[in-house]
Amino acid sequence: MATIQPAQRLNLVQEYYFSTKLKEIAEMKSRGLDVINLGIGSPDLPPSPETIEALSNSAHNPKHHAYQSYVGLPALRQAFAGWYQTYFHVELNPANEILPLIGSKEGIMHIAMSYLEPGTIALVPNPGYPTYRAASLLTGAEVQDYELSAENGWLPDLKALAQTDLSRVRLMWVNYPHMPTGAQATPALYEELVAFGKEHHILIVNDNPYSFVLNETYQSILSVPGAKEVALELNSLSKSHNMAGWRMGMLAGGAEHVSNVLRFKSNMDSGMFLPLQEAAIQALANPPSWYADLNAIYRERQKKVFELLDLLDCTYDPQQTGMFVWARIPTSYADGYALSDEILYKANVFITPGGIFGSQGNGYIRISLCAEVEVFNASILRIRHIKGIC
Ligand SMILES: Cc1ncc(COP(=O)(O)O)c(C=O)c1O
Repeated sequence: MATIQPAQRLNLVQEYYFSTKLKEIAEMKSRGLDVINLGIGSPDLPPSPETIEALSNSAHNPKHHAYQSYVGLPALRQAFAGWYQTYFHVELNPANEILPLIGSKEGIMHIAMSYLEPGTIALVPNPGYPTYRAASLLTGAEVQDYELSAENGWLPDLKALAQTDLSRVRLMWVNYPHMPTGAQATPALYEELVAFGKEHHILIVNDNPYSFVLNETYQSILSVPGAKEVALELNSLSKSHNMAGWRMGMLAGGAEHVSNVLRFKSNMDSGMFLPLQEAAIQALANPPSWYADLNAIYRERQKKVFELLDLLDCTYDPQQTGMFVWARIPTSYADGYALSDEILYKANVFITPGGIFGSQGNGYIRISLCAEVEVFNASILRIRHIKGIC
């Protein structure tokens, strides 16, 4: 039999945790077990009706199925600029400071490929979204964790970082509102990050997809004067507009940085389906009540999750933002994996162990708010049952 070796770089990354775990859950289901999945942050609610109508109307036009521009429709970039102006009070030039993306996840890889290379280092948050680490490693760069903890509000300690050797650090991944902890940036943090980036010649990339979920303080790193010199920001319609499967995101920042990313990206993919772009323009025009209505639903769900966590003797910050609840596990469990496995195998409810986001998440679990209240009620009943509480 022929032996064909995969590239060495594949050894740098594992199959994505959820990709493996979903296979196990599917296997449990095939054995007839009714598993409730409270793990993944994939919005279960639809986009606004106007958004779907715009997609459908546009798709009926026989001329709307061709390849599209690499930089998206001018009207889409204009709509993103308007969105940033309205909610973040940030002025962006739609001609060259905005790049539509097929989701922010892809954007992370595009940025990594455009700025990192062997010999350079990327700073990644621990805990943090695993893609920052994987994308950075795949470029041949090294990664260095910066540790976040409950004690410092899950914010980076830039003073401590400045004491370390930063000479090879090219890029720092930042993500506020923070996933998985739900922590918010302080207004001072973005100023400090921009100053840090300027002083040490580090590109600061803020990944900002959770601004609109259970949060009304919209913040962008680009609102700091001079930020465009050293900062890029990713955003996405996945969570804010219930469009995760549509794959619609954006990159914003100084024209030179955006053009560097475009140089890489335009060699990797092509422009998005035109009806999708037109629908995104419509979504971005949703009134402020769109976010308020969505958050009223998430708020109800969050209360249920708090109830569930109380049953598990977990502790949590009731002020946290975003699409998940992050909670500290009781000391009776070795780590979040032990708790997650116990609840999965005994109650058939899947909860994400915090350790998948880095070692600083080991003592935590994360529960997604992307399920109806009835599903949380059913999970609570199952957990009461295994705990012997009637
Ligand atoms: C912090 C963070 N960034 C980016 C993404 C990817 O979002 P998108 O759907 O825009 O690719 C996620 C998705 O879960 C996320 O949690």
